[in-house]
Amino acid sequence: MTRILIVDDEETIRLALRKFLRSRGYEVEVAASGDQAMQILDRESFSLMLCDVRMPGMTGVQVVPQAREKDRDLAIIMLTAVNDAATATEVLASGATDYLMKPVELADLQQAVDRALHKRVQLIEERRLDMLIREEVALRTAELEQEKESLRLMSVSIAETLINAMEAKDLYLRGHSQRVAELAGQLAQELSLDESVCEDLRVAGRLHDVGKIGIRETILNKPGRLTTEEFEHVKQHVRIGLDILAPLFHIKQPLKYVEHHHERWDGAGYPLGLSGEAIPLGARILCAADTFDALTSKRAYREPLEPLAALEHLRIDAGKQFDPSVYDALVTVITRRVASQSTEAHSQSTEARKVRKAAP
Ligand SMILES: [Fe+2]
Ligand SMILES: [Fe+2]
Repeated sequence: MTRILIVDDEETIRLALRKFLRSRGYEVEVAASGDQAMQILDRESFSLMLCDVRMPGMTGVQVVPQAREKDRDLAIIMLTAVNDAATATEVLASGATDYLMKPVELADLQQAVDRALHKRVQLIEERRLDMLIREEVALRTAELEQEKESLRLMSVSIAETLINAMEAKDLYLRGHSQRVAELAGQLAQELSLDESVCEDLRVAGRLHDVGKIGIRETILNKPGRLTTEEFEHVKQHVRIGLDILAPLFHIKQPLKYVEHHHERWDGAGYPLGLSGEAIPLGARILCAADTFDALTSKRAYREPLEPLAALEHLRIDAGKQFDPSVYDALVTVITRRVASQSTEAHSQSTEARKVRKAAP
């Protein structure tokens, strides 16, 4: 049953309104003051409150916001003195649904009550729908994100299968992409880039040389210097790679890094000859990781360099081939890596000595 609270300091009005509303089938409570109304609202809930504006103690204007705070769905009709337009505006602004002039005509009251209750139901329904829509949108967004992520993972893993097949055939390339991916991710972390950039670089590292699948093996493994024609052919691995990876347009950033991983800081690289900061930072990082890994890996025509020797070898290229700040990050990461490997090796040999001593 619809419950109505009447708040008025004049007993005759309270009783008359209660009698009328009860006769219309409503369940009615009364309060003689704003304070009393607040106490009742604390323990009971109502659909509608009829509230006098002028009362000793708490006025109707003060009652409205507090009542709303207790129950945001409560419909409120104010009872104002004749010609008090200013107060009427004020109570409407503070959250009342409607107002009636005193003395109240019962027919007007019935209409106002119907209107206020109808509006209340509408508002509750609107809010419920709004919440449903929000929940639905949040759910769909999460699902879409998940689909996008699994599509990304699937596409990357397909490309990786290609790379693994290619590297498996080539003794000198084996593990190259994985190592470049790891090192590029570490360099990005060292440069305090966002985790999303680090992840993009790990993906780019794994994919960067996929185009080598289109390069003649005799050239890839040629001992000694490449002829100009052969070098032009090797350069094609970037374009071929981009063609292979073209369907992965949803991993835009990693593809950008792949596209420019052979650009040089001084502008003498390929495919576009970009220079300095015109080269995407991710590509500058990828280039450093790629070159470092190539130098420290065995090739058909030379033995691998030790990591620290490779850093020394590359020093001259900071500012030429490499972004100097990326080179600095490379020095930090590799020096740290070498130090932790030698600590590990030291503790392993101490362990081994202990075991040998303990042996009978
Ligand atoms: Fe490459
Ligand atoms: Fe490479």
